[in-house]
Amino acid sequence: MKFNLLALGSAVSFGQAAVLGDRSQFAERATYGVVGKPEGFAAGATGGGSAACAVPADVAQLKSWLMDSTARCIVLDKEYNFKGTEGTTTEAGCRPASNKCPGNGGQDAINKASWCTNGNAGAGVKTMTVTYDTAAVAGINVGSNKSIIGVGSKGVIRGKGLRIANGAKNVIIQNIHITELNPQYIWGGDAITVDGSDLVWVDHVKVSLIGRQMFVAGNGASNRVTLSNNEFDGVTNWSATCDGRHYWAIYLTGSSDLITMKNNYIHHTSGRSPKINGNSLVHAVNNYWYSNSGHAFDNGAGGKVVAEGNVFQNVATPLLENLGKFYSSPSASANAVCKANLGHVCQTNSFGSSGTLSGTDSSFLSSFSGKTVASAGVASTAVANTAGVGKI
Ligand SMILES: *[C@@H]1O[C@H](CO)[C@@H](O)[C@H](O)[C@H]1NC(C)=O
Ligand SMILES: *[C@@H]1O[C@H](CO)[C@@H](O)[C@H](O)[C@H]1NC(C)=O
Repeated sequence: MKFNLLALGSAVSFGQAAVLGDRSQFAERATYGVVGKPEGFAAGATGGGSAACAVPADVAQLKSWLMDSTARCIVLDKEYNFKGTEGTTTEAGCRPASNKCPGNGGQDAINKASWCTNGNAGAGVKTMTVTYDTAAVAGINVGSNKSIIGVGSKGVIRGKGLRIANGAKNVIIQNIHITELNPQYIWGGDAITVDGSDLVWVDHVKVSLIGRQMFVAGNGASNRVTLSNNEFDGVTNWSATCDGRHYWAIYLTGSSDLITMKNNYIHHTSGRSPKINGNSLVHAVNNYWYSNSGHAFDNGAGGKVVAEGNVFQNVATPLLENLGKFYSSPSASANAVCKANLGHVCQTNSFGSSGTLSGTDSSFLSSFSGKTVASAGVASTAVANTAGVGKI
């Protein structure tokens, strides 16, 4: 743990941190704070600002603190288990045609938005009964001005996601693990959703065993978002692609989204890592993709992506389709074109036992002008050691 805790004002001196062993004092006094500052598009996020930090007693208090309209620093020093808190649901779902995995090993689906019956589940879809944990299918609606931070690697939210939407702004989620949202079912739940929001910083978060999206920027304008130092761990026993990897990792759509992805470790996924759509400017810099049996980027119309300084190791298809604009930082000489608008010469990407990126469209780089743009270093696999929970 680094003690540069004064960055955002809610933290404390070294001396107070020393009383952490005493839970009663810890709960009452300002102790921890956000570590560091957001880089890139969400650089202005301050979360709960100078609000005193406190530990919610249980899932009910965590939920109420997240949802209210008070600026807060919410410290998670244990697991908050939402499984069972809203009961279970049994209803008709389906086995999509694509699930031909041996031993019932694939991912079946909840019939959300008529997905099982509207053609998306493919010809040959079979109706079946599904039973799932109800809490996971809808995330907690987080209010504005919140910092949600974990202590060491102890801050776990099990069985429910977080949703920053409908005008909520200025939220920092740092150093927690979100896990087990009905991983056996497509539509089982999304870990973090932004949709109609602004200034969201997700940092050093680990996401694993999710039914649907690990991170999704929905159809509304999500404005400024930074995803940094996160671990998106796709290892699953319910793979939609029958190979132990999660397909639905990161989906970035939205009517006006600015998304920085820096220093994230995205591993054992098989698709949508990320899929981009709508009107989204994405700066993907210094991320590490490892062991992806399908695609990393799928760039739909309206996606504008600069990918630089990333590592693709054992990634079958770094870019599936490009219907938008994609600058793949192809060579050191070409990459000088970034300087005028990103403030630096773009870094080349690195590929090991992987397909490659294409895309030399630099016509949209002026979209970065006047924005806070993350810096770029040389592509490195060291990201695997620094991304995720318990690493700050
Ligand atoms: C969040 O904080 C800002 C700045 O202090 C304030 O203007 C705004 O009203 C707060 N939002 C809510 C919902 O409390
Ligand atoms: C997958 O199943 C095996 C055997 O039950 C278990 O040991 C392992 O932890 C499971 N993996 C995940 C990611 O749940």
